[in-house]
Amino acid sequence: MTATLNGLGYGRDLIDAALRNAVARLDPDTGLVVSYHLGWCDPQGNPLTGNGGKAIRPIMTLLAARACGAADTAALPGAVAVELVHNFSLVHDDLMDRDRERRHRATVWAVWGDATAVLAGDMMLSLAHDVLLESDSPHAAPAGRVIAAATRDLIRGQAQDIAFERRNDVGLQECLDMAFGKTGALLGASSAVGAVLAGADEPTVAAMSDYGRHVGLAFQLVDDVLGIWGEPEITGKPVYSDLRSHKKSLPITWTLEQDDTTASELREWLAAEPDSMVTESELRSVATLIDHSGARDWTLAEARRRVELAQRALDSIDLLTTPRAALCDLAQYIVDREA
Ligand code: IPE
Ligand code: IPE
Ligand code: MG
Ligand code: MG
Repeated sequence: MTATLNGLGYGRDLIDAALRNAVARLDPDTGLVVSYHLGWCDPQGNPLTGNGGKAIRPIMTLLAARACGAADTAALPGAVAVELVHNFSLVHDDLMDRDRERRHRATVWAVWGDATAVLAGDMMLSLAHDVLLESDSPHAAPAGRVIAAATRDLIRGQAQDIAFERRNDVGLQECLDMAFGKTGALLGASSAVGAVLAGADEPTVAAMSDYGRHVGLAFQLVDDVLGIWGEPEITGKPVYSDLRSHKKSLPITWTLEQDDTTASELREWLAAEPDSMVTESELRSVATLIDHSGARDWTLAEARRRVELAQRALDSIDLLTTPRAALCDLAQYIVDREA
């Protein structure tokens, strides 16, 4: 069954409205590109609805703030900021990964070219800090620093992800470190910023950050499974892109660390240069090979373990019951999702 964000998405209208408000201040050309990426219009600017992303990070920010006793309005600038940083990273990620499809639509670089994708991403990153710092929150500066530090970690993780394509000796530990950077850091910041903007104390902010980082790792584990065995009609992303570019994703590095024939066969396959013309049937055989080695089962079990760690991080602090339960549901949704 496809998991839904039912009951978790109730801050969604507020987030969308604030995001539109922020994007409205961009110049018309970049504003169009950003609005297209966010699912609001087609490349000509005709309005559309749907396919704007799941908004997991800003929902997490609002829920974290609620759990600490604050109203949505207190955390909204932080929610918008993390969603803008996330979208900056996606537009650049698709360019770096040379992926032509996301959210069931052509990616920005595929529509407008590389330079436009770089600039639209940069614009969203700059807008993120603007939204936060212009808010009248007394906690805007510390929240901005949490987001800035997470962005640096995200970029460090992305740099590792790209460098690993050319390396065949990447260990699981190194790969986990990369995933904590590229995905864990921003999810950690998403929950932490909710607590910061709620005026929570340091132990609460730290526990919220741990929760989000564990959720982030679970998220990337599932993303890597979907990248190899997911249905492109459901994920809205190209099939076998990670395998084609020899990404050292978590299921791949786990397989390479096993002492069996699958690991040797995979190592042999990876020894050749990445070939953009490799056939889909060859990639399907590689996916089947590593599935039989247990890589999919390990990755999903590890994702479930990380969700438990995330939920446990919340046990150490005093939170309101209903939003705490919603944060646990959000973590669970991450592992049950198919897109
Ligand atoms: C995709 O994130 C990028 C990763 C960190 C793996 P999401 O799946 O949260 O992206 P959208 O915003 O919902 O499309
Ligand atoms: C996820 O990158 C992390 C960021 C976008 C920062 P991936 O390349 O693993 O994610 P998808 O599968 O393209 O969304
Ligand atoms: Mg990618
Ligand atoms: Mg990538």
